[in-house]
Amino acid sequence: MLLSRQEMTFDFQGAKLDPTKDRELLEWIVNQFLYGEMTGIQIGHWLYDAPDYEAAKFLARQALEEMQHVENFLRILSMLGCQPKPAHPAVRFLATGMMGGSWAEHVALEMAQGEGFVLLAFYAVIDTLDHKPSIDILRRAVKQEERHVEFGEVQTKKAISGRAWLRRRLLGLSLVSLWGVRRVADFMHKRLPADHPVLRHLPAFLAFANQCAELRLRRIGVLDRPLAELGGLRRAALVIEAYAGKALGGLAHLLTTPLRLLPFWPKRKRLTDSYLRDPHVVGYELGSAGGTPTEDAVA
Ligand SMILES: [Fe+2]
Ligand SMILES: [Fe+2]
Repeated sequence: MLLSRQEMTFDFQGAKLDPTKDRELLEWIVNQFLYGEMTGIQIGHWLYDAPDYEAAKFLARQALEEMQHVENFLRILSMLGCQPKPAHPAVRFLATGMMGGSWAEHVALEMAQGEGFVLLAFYAVIDTLDHKPSIDILRRAVKQEERHVEFGEVQTKKAISGRAWLRRRLLGLSLVSLWGVRRVADFMHKRLPADHPVLRHLPAFLAFANQCAELRLRRIGVLDRPLAELGGLRRAALVIEAYAGKALGGLAHLLTTPLRLLPFWPKRKRLTDSYLRDPHVVGYELGSAGGTPTEDAVA
């Protein structure tokens, strides 16, 4: 990952969440996570768009991991004596409303940025929750989330290489998701008790989360200067350009739908068209990591 565990660790100064006293708050937090994990079903959509064999294999495994995380949070809810409940609208917007319109948007916004935020929240719960059985489950899950974020970072870097317009579009859309995180922060700040030992750190924690997101955008190369150097107008222009580009793309798609049925229309290349040129298939050798049943395949 482009950010270390240390860089993504917020100092709660030893404050703890009590599984009994803070049950209501924990129920709210875990239900946001539960919704996020459930959106793992969207991976099915992206598996069909995978650009190469390694990406397809990664997504297939990730889908399974996210469904296991659903089970994990159901277990944590039941261990804490909590119930599954709906997620906050801003969380639903971030996880579903911001669903990418292309592979680049998926890996940049949902994996590097979105799962990056989730990972930061997982670390925060691990560092504050005073309930070992839940922490043990979360510790195992974060190892997998770290790999999801890393995949998003690597794929985003690949996608924007030599495409300045795409870099700008991803930056514009990232600004919207940073705004969404601030909405969740505002809600938590207004509605949750501010004198709580952990919650009183919330405004600083959310500011920290956005700093980490900015650092990640810079290390990937989506952002080429500190965000503070981008004025309000420039930010608005980036957001408008990103959405206008998406809208035009959608319109063009709609208008060309009948044409795309014609045999001469160039078809979008999927893995089923390109696998015989895929490095994994071409370079396949018996006895190599790809040619022998690995631990993953057996497990
Ligand atoms: Fe997950
Ligand atoms: Fe994940």
